[in-house]
Amino acid sequence: MKQSKPILEVRDLLKTFGAVVAAKDINVDVNRGEIVGIIGANGAGKTCFVNMVTGYLKPTSGSIVFDGIELVGKGPREVTHAGISRSFQVSQVFHTMTVAENLTIALAIATNRGVRALSEMETPELTLQRDAVLKRYQLENYKDMTVNVLSQGVRKLLDIAMAVVSEPRILLLDEPTSGISVEEKFDFMDVVMGALKEDNVTVLFVEHDMEIVERYVSRVLAFYQGEIIADMSPKKALADSKVQEFVIGKRH
Ligand SMILES: Nc1ncnc2c1ncn2[C@@H]1O[C@H](COP(=O)(O)OP(=O)(O)O)[C@@H](O)[C@H]1O
Ligand SMILES: [Mg+2]
Repeated sequence: MKQSKPILEVRDLLKTFGAVVAAKDINVDVNRGEIVGIIGANGAGKTCFVNMVTGYLKPTSGSIVFDGIELVGKGPREVTHAGISRSFQVSQVFHTMTVAENLTIALAIATNRGVRALSEMETPELTLQRDAVLKRYQLENYKDMTVNVLSQGVRKLLDIAMAVVSEPRILLLDEPTSGISVEEKFDFMDVVMGALKEDNVTVLFVEHDMEIVERYVSRVLAFYQGEIIADMSPKKALADSKVQEFVIGKRH
């Protein structure tokens, strides 16, 4: 069978802030269905990379092609519209609203219905879509609770569920497990990765926890001072001497 083209092609990406080099010589091809773990010490350039791919930060130079479309020069809304969604290091949810209300708003925005009064947004069609998302992300039991009473794990599930209502083909997550307890983290990741796999979403996520990296990713990109120092399987990456010295040895 013919090898299909990569879904994401990043070429010679450079980002500088004055004398600070946040990204340099970044060249990556991501194939459909890959689960890519982005690792690196604080300040290595992980978030800048995610921000450039999602249109939040304009590269100094280089190119980012998604399914044949050049993304450099497009803003976040255009990138989302093209089929790439993201979550942030800190969840972007409305804390005094319920889980269901948060999803209703996200769906209304994603489907261009516009944000109006909640009662007006809750059409039968949107309610059906919302309930399917609640089920897929195992949020049904939390549906009518306000976000501020939820555990960090459930909040982050909601955050990701809200990011996927636009039905992205690539999802980027910036530290999805940060702040989640050791007891919750594997269940959380099982739900997220199971749901994303069912929808054939290609995933790139920033992660500090090497147990998570080892268990869930098919490929590791290790960043150090803005450059990719390793691009290999998790097993090889965790055993790599450069990764051990510049990533694992320098965490937080
Ligand atoms: N808006 C900005 N202005 C100046 N420097 C920045 C800005 N954003 C990030 N940086 C710098 O770029 C480098 C990479 O940052 P970042 O991508 O946030 O790192 P990471 O997510 O790996 O911890 C750091 O040295 C950081 O201080
Ligand atoms: Mg970061």
